[in-house]
Amino acid sequence: MKIIIASDHGGYELKLEIIEHLKARGFEVTDVGCDSPESADYPIYAKKVTDILSSEVDLDNPGKNFETLGILVCGTGIGMSLAANKVPGIRAALCHDTFSAQATREHNNSIILCMGARVVGPGLALKIVDTFIDTPFSQDERHVRRISMYS
Ligand code: RB5
Repeated sequence: MKIIIASDHGGYELKLEIIEHLKARGFEVTDVGCDSPESADYPIYAKKVTDILSSEVDLDNPGKNFETLGILVCGTGIGMSLAANKVPGIRAALCHDTFSAQATREHNNSIILCMGARVVGPGLALKIVDTFIDTPFSQDERHVRRISMYS
């Protein structure tokens, strides 16, 4: 499993903790910025992640089991999710609890997890990350059908 991650300044510190955690778990992590806590425009970093996912992953197949996932962190997670979901085929889920993180992988086959560093602390954030990454898509026909209705 490969993880492409980005943040703006609001999510920068949490992003560093997530990267350390994921590397300790043995995942290949690509950080596409931002590179400091200086003010940064989150749509630029959402696009860096969606560009990579769009080129590396078959987003046209709603039942696809992804080998690459994305994580986007800003202050609220809202701006990142809005920007990412503008990209055709991208399903980015804003999750601040583990139930949602599990459900969005099982039901929506989301490829990006968005979180707000001003909303959740690092302890919960890392559990949300683990849940998102460790939960496979259910492959249920009804979920594939529903995803194909909006993707
Ligand atoms: C930056 O202040 C903040 O607006 C951004 O991190 C994010 O929360 C936007 O949705």
